[in-house]
Amino acid sequence: MFALTVNGTRQQVDVAPDTPLLWVLRDNLGITSVKYSCGIAECGMCTVLIDGTARRSCVVPIEEVDGSAITTIEGLPDDHPVKIAWIEKQVPQCGYCQPGIMLQTVDFLSRVPHPSETEINNAMDDVICRCGSHPRIRKAIRMAAKITASQGG
Ligand code: FES
Ligand code: FES
Repeated sequence: MFALTVNGTRQQVDVAPDTPLLWVLRDNLGITSVKYSCGIAECGMCTVLIDGTARRSCVVPIEEVDGSAITTIEGLPDDHPVKIAWIEKQVPQCGYCQPGIMLQTVDFLSRVPHPSETEINNAMDDVICRCGSHPRIRKAIRMAAKITASQGG
């Protein structure tokens, strides 16, 4: 039995220790916003925050995160700068990749609150959007950084 706090709610799951967090979230807890694509930590679609750090849940065994706090896109408040910017800039196309990219952005801006263009490009270099939304992603990251700065962040 493993315990997690997911979006502020304590959860217990009875699964094999090597079960990837991705499948615990999707199959055991019904959080299907966490997407599966490559399964080998290459695309970023399964990204969640683990104790505030963006990680690729397809390669994180549940035993490694026992007792951790997990945040999925549902755990971000509606007035979070990243959500506001993503809506304002109309970033998603099909939407499949977006929860993971948004959570990677949350982690990125928490570490680099005033990013340069190069830093934004480098931070998003390893996430794949098959719809090609990267130009809008970059705009939204810039806007989220500005909102955060205006709030004193
Ligand atoms: S499904 Fe996890 S990184 Fe691609
Ligand atoms: S919006 Fe379709 S894969 Fe990114």
